[in-house]
Amino acid sequence: RQLIERPKDMAGLRLLVTAGPTQEALDPVRYLTNHSSGKMGYALACEAAKRGAKVTLVSGPTALEKPLFTETVDVVSAKDMFEAVAARQKEQDIIIKAAAVADYRPSRYHNDKIKKADGSTGLELSRTDDILLYLGEHKKSGQYLCGFSMETANMLENSQKKLKRKNADMIVANNLKVDGAGFAGDTNIVTIITRQHITELPCMSKEEVANQILDYILQERGASMN
Ligand code: CTP
Ligand code: CA
Repeated sequence: RQLIERPKDMAGLRLLVTAGPTQEALDPVRYLTNHSSGKMGYALACEAAKRGAKVTLVSGPTALEKPLFTETVDVVSAKDMFEAVAARQKEQDIIIKAAAVADYRPSRYHNDKIKKADGSTGLELSRTDDILLYLGEHKKSGQYLCGFSMETANMLENSQKKLKRKNADMIVANNLKVDGAGFAGDTNIVTIITRQHITELPCMSKEEVANQILDYILQERGASMN
């Protein structure tokens, strides 16, 4: 779809999207990460830009081309992503956390490649900062905060807990156990969860999912301002 065909219903809005995985280095040749192609987050950035939003995309390492008409900030680790997002949080009207942030990082980075040895690795992990939790705790008035949720069981219940605990306005829940959903594909099946509503979307392209999410956010923002 061409840029000019989209209604500019996000003109004047500043939106920050995070996308892709993070990588947590163990040594110069190894890292911990999550499955994530970045496609969903990039689709959100791209569609929002087409709709006239001023978009900042904070991206972990992906194989995707940078979307046009967005400011892209490349990051590697959860710590990098945290710093990039926290530094830009205040000026945003909408923040969407589509990134698959690693929950753990190796406690210690080894400057030299670790050589293999017999027996257990003794690998020690530490928790990363929860960026969405931080954003919820520091939410500006009128700011809309949307997180994602990846579950293989109890999707609704767990996602509703995340919505409340992280003070988000919306959680877009992915059920990994469903065909047509998930990481690498071009389609997705998601459930949009807010305080008031649960909306299951059918299988559609990530571009369409992105526009549905944006529609929903605009609607909710509009409703809360009336
Ligand atoms: N998230 C984040 N920072 C982290 C971990 C997660 O900002 N360190 C965000 C993700 O970007 C996503 C939301 O929190 O928007 C939910 O991520 P998910 O992995 O589904 O849930 P967690 O809260 O990490 O809990 P768990 O992995 O145990 O299900
Ligand atoms: Ca997690």
